[in-house]
Amino acid sequence: MTDKALAVDEVSKLYRIGSAADLVSKDDNAVVRLLKKPLNNYRKYRSLYRFTEEELQGETVGKDILWALRDVSFNVEPGEVVGLVGANGAGKSTLLKILSRVTPPTKGRCVIRGRVSCLLEVGTGFHSELTGRENIYMNSTILGMRKREVDRKFDEIVDFSGISKFIDTPVKRYSSGMSVRLAFAIMAHLEPEILIVDEVLAVGDAEFQRKCLNQMGNAGREGKAVLFVSHNMAAITRLCDRGLLLRNGQIVQDGTAADVVHTHVSGGHGEAASREWPDMESAPGDDKVRLRAVRIVAESGAPLDSVSADEQVGIQLIYDVLEEGQVLSPYFTIVSDAGIDLFSTTDADASADKVARQVGRYISTAWVPGGLLAGGTHYVRAVMRSVQEQYRPFTERDIIAFNVIDSDSGIFGTGWWEGRPSGVIHPRLQWSTEYVRPEMVIEE
Ligand SMILES: Nc1ncnc2c1ncn2[C@@H]1O[C@H](COP(=O)(O)OP(=O)(O)OP(=O)(O)O)[C@@H](O)[C@H]1O
Ligand SMILES: [Mg+2]
Repeated sequence: MTDKALAVDEVSKLYRIGSAADLVSKDDNAVVRLLKKPLNNYRKYRSLYRFTEEELQGETVGKDILWALRDVSFNVEPGEVVGLVGANGAGKSTLLKILSRVTPPTKGRCVIRGRVSCLLEVGTGFHSELTGRENIYMNSTILGMRKREVDRKFDEIVDFSGISKFIDTPVKRYSSGMSVRLAFAIMAHLEPEILIVDEVLAVGDAEFQRKCLNQMGNAGREGKAVLFVSHNMAAITRLCDRGLLLRNGQIVQDGTAADVVHTHVSGGHGEAASREWPDMESAPGDDKVRLRAVRIVAESGAPLDSVSADEQVGIQLIYDVLEEGQVLSPYFTIVSDAGIDLFSTTDADASADKVARQVGRYISTAWVPGGLLAGGTHYVRAVMRSVQEQYRPFTERDIIAFNVIDSDSGIFGTGWWEGRPSGVIHPRLQWSTEYVRPEMVIEE
């Protein structure tokens, strides 16, 4: 017998994507086609879940099949809080759906010990015509609670959700944030042994997100297993002890949350400090504006890979305006090693925000002062937005990475205080220390 909360053993999931082969016979006339429609629909539906032996062996790389998960194995112990990280389409939600038994795996199996409660997509599990109150009872019953238990927990659930005013309103009138609040509150109060939470928290406001993260952290400390998917790397590093990195349906890293986040944010491009797009067609952007290069430069304008923490560093964006008329405002976000957004910066010169750019090449450089960044790798997100419309020609995450060498951190390494200073930035602040003579100290 194992005492694992969750054991996933070589789980794979194959999906058929796009429409299945056209099953309508060309010779049929309209009436026959109409009569055959239900049958054809059924066949079409069945074909989505039937695979040939060849497809299952994974030898054919069919155009219309996709391995959303491929031989995924891992265990989760009770009390472990695991963050699942990966790009869009990596297979995170698929994995959670298999674990919560929304969909079966194509191959492999998973063993789950204990009551699972999960929050997968906004609105799942709610009946839209029923009120919040009715949905609480319905969901709790489905998840195996008795009415008396729910009665006891009811106020707590409503309290946590913070939507008491709307508790007798049909759920279809709720905003997506309100639905998630209620769903999370129900889930958290079911006292499950295993908690599974997909991205959905992102629709809640900041305060509610914090509450949910705390609740999940507590669940871990109480010995429950938590599996949490998020694109918020700060939440992952804060909440999780362990991380799993999924790439194209496979686990490519199983390690500490910090290591996994690091690998994920550094992406597949080898952490270069500059990138260029010599070919206009493949450059990020559209017919109005294209990104041509992003790089780190020294004061002299020379490209750099690493900078000293004391020197100022330029982040440079080179772009071509191809169509006149857009008032463009580029900005950068500097992201720490752990995936935390440190700050964003945009051109503060007001005139830059008002003048429509003419066709041609532009080079914008943002100067980050010395004595601000901590030592370690930093990532840059480059965004171009238009001021007049809600329009963003490109948003490039983790487009370049640069290393900050903080020689100052050495002073922290002396004596009993080993290692680097803590904190995501390391500003050199002005300090002053005064000596107060004993006779001047007035004791209360
Ligand atoms: N029901 C389905 N039918 C066909 N393909 C599907 C289905 N569900 C998911 N997929 C495909 O499986 C792959 C993995 O999807 P999944 O939703 O697990 O990604 P994800 O890691 O959760 O991504 P995101 O970060 O965008 O939420 C994707 O390529 C997706 O298109
Ligand atoms: Mg998903």
